[in-house]
Amino acid sequence: MASKANRRKFLRTTGVGVAATAALSSVAQALCAESRAASRTIKIIAVSGSPRKGKTTAASLQIALEAAKAVDPERIETELIELADMKLNGNMAAGIPLEPGQRDDFPELAAKLAQPEVGGVIVGSPVYFGSMTSLCKAFLDRCISLRMRQFALANKVGGAVAVGGVRNGGQELTLQAIQAALMCQEMVVVGDGRPTCHTGATVWNSGRDDISQDEFGVSTVKNLGRRVAEVALKIAGAK
Ligand SMILES: Cc1cc2nc3c(=O)[nH]c(=O)nc-3n(C[C@H](O)[C@H](O)[C@H](O)COP(=O)(O)O)c2cc1C
Repeated sequence: MASKANRRKFLRTTGVGVAATAALSSVAQALCAESRAASRTIKIIAVSGSPRKGKTTAASLQIALEAAKAVDPERIETELIELADMKLNGNMAAGIPLEPGQRDDFPELAAKLAQPEVGGVIVGSPVYFGSMTSLCKAFLDRCISLRMRQFALANKVGGAVAVGGVRNGGQELTLQAIQAALMCQEMVVVGDGRPTCHTGATVWNSGRDDISQDEFGVSTVKNLGRRVAEVALKIAGAK
């Protein structure tokens, strides 16, 4: 009896009881945070920089989004945005104002990309003379406003898709140009995952606006979509 009382007194005076309670509560908090992270929905957005709506770049990005969704259908939402639908004035990136009556759709797009639930952004462009289209560049240039807004795209996963009319028509140069812009946003840039595992998705429009015959290119697109989703989930889990 006396020894139990002494033990209680010892624990009280040394603060061991308090420390144990604090440790238990921090374990509980960590478990709660983990389960909150595990249940959080993540959105992966693909942006097509083709001026031609619904063509080979859009088709490639759709495949990437399907592969992303397949990683965890319950937690991953996807959306394809086609810049062909929008009016984007690239000069505004340099502070040049719109002409009276001109429309500009960038603010709405920027707000969508900056949402915290967006875990990944995949940017796709046709190859135009060895680089991205002017539309895609205008979009990436306008994203300077997100950089100035406390790096609103930071730590979102970035991926790139390039579609060319020939097998080696400059897809890798186009990927590099897109990726450079994404890195300037402090995004976490990834390539196509295993087993192809290189610097991104390189697609060949080998038919008449048809990518389905380019088996290798389509596999790079799938591996990119999957990789973007996997890394986005890891980052969300670590928060
Ligand atoms: C102005 C222009 C330049 C192009 N330059 C290239 C090129 O350098 N390399 C290439 O492989 N394809 C080139 N192409 C072909 C397109 O990249 C290809 O048709 C692509 O699939 C178009 O994408 P979309 O179907 O989404 O519009 C060019 C097309 C145009 C209109």
